[in-house]
Amino acid sequence: MANATIIDGKAMAADMSDAITTRTAALVEQSGVKPGLAVVIVGEDPASQVYVRNKKRTAEACGFHSVQHSLPEDSTQDAVLSLVDDLNNDPAVHGILVQLPLPSHLDEQAITQAIVPAKDVDGFHFQNIGMLTAGHLDGAFVPCTPAGCMLMIEEQLGKDLSGLNAVIIGRSNIVGKPMAALLLKANATVTICHSRTKDLPAVARNADILVAAVGRAKMVKGDWVKPGAVVIDVGINRIEVEVDGEIKNKLVGDVDFDEAAAEAGAITPVPGGVGPMTIVMLMSNTLQSAERTA
Ligand code: GUN
Repeated sequence: MANATIIDGKAMAADMSDAITTRTAALVEQSGVKPGLAVVIVGEDPASQVYVRNKKRTAEACGFHSVQHSLPEDSTQDAVLSLVDDLNNDPAVHGILVQLPLPSHLDEQAITQAIVPAKDVDGFHFQNIGMLTAGHLDGAFVPCTPAGCMLMIEEQLGKDLSGLNAVIIGRSNIVGKPMAALLLKANATVTICHSRTKDLPAVARNADILVAAVGRAKMVKGDWVKPGAVVIDVGINRIEVEVDGEIKNKLVGDVDFDEAAAEAGAITPVPGGVGPMTIVMLMSNTLQSAERTA
C-alpha cells in the first residue's frame, strides 16, 4: 500500500492561480496593462486541442486577455511565420505559445525561434535557453513543465538540493534538458538518462529525486525507486483498460504509480500532478512578461 506523500499539483496550481489573479488585477489597476496570452495551434491533434483549451480557460480565469489562433493542418510555413510576426508586434500580447508538435511539413525550430525572446513564455528561444543554462534565471523565461516540477520538488526538499542525487529520465528540449539546468542551479548532482543509458533501473535507484519524462506508460517500476525518493512523473499517456468488461481510456504517467508509491517518500499523481502546474507556470511567465512591459 502507498505510504508516500501524494504531491497535490492541482491544489498547488489552484493556490498559485489565485495569487496570479490578484497580481493581475493590481497590475491592471496600477498601469492599465492587462496580461495578454496568444496561443497558436496548427491542425487537429486531439491531445493538443485539450491542452490549448485548458490554457485558454486558465488565462481567462486569471483575468488575462486571451487569444487563440487555430490554423488549418495544411498551413504553410510562411503563414505561421506571418502570424508569429503579427503577434510579436501586437502590444496587447505579452506571451506567445505555438503548441507543439507541429504538422511534420513545418519547420518547428524556425517557428519557435521566430518568437521574440521577450514574449517567449515557453522558454524555447535559444536566448532564453542560453540564459537558463548559464544560471541567469532572473531575466529568462523558464520552460513551464520543468519550472512547475521544480516548485513541487522545492515544496518537499527546500530550495537547496546540496548533496542530493537527481536523475532525469528523458533528454528532451522541453523537459529533460531544462530540468537538468534547474536542478543543477539548486546544487543537486544531476544525471540525465535516455534510451542509450546502460542499466537504467540501477541509475534510477541512486536518485533522491527521480524525474520521469519519456512518454512510456508505467515504465518506471517500484524497484527503480530508492526508498524515500521524491518522484516526479511528467508523462501523460493514454492507455486502454478493461473495466467491468468494457474497454475504457485511462491517463497514466511514465511511472507505475502503485508500485512507486510503495517505495517513494513523495510522488506526483497523473492526472493532477505536473499537468496543472505546467499550465499555471505559463500564466506566471505571461504575467511576468506583462509586468516587465509595465
Ligand atoms: N507540447 C507539449 N508540451 C508543450 C509545451 O510546454 N509548450 C508547447 N508550446 N507545446 C507543448
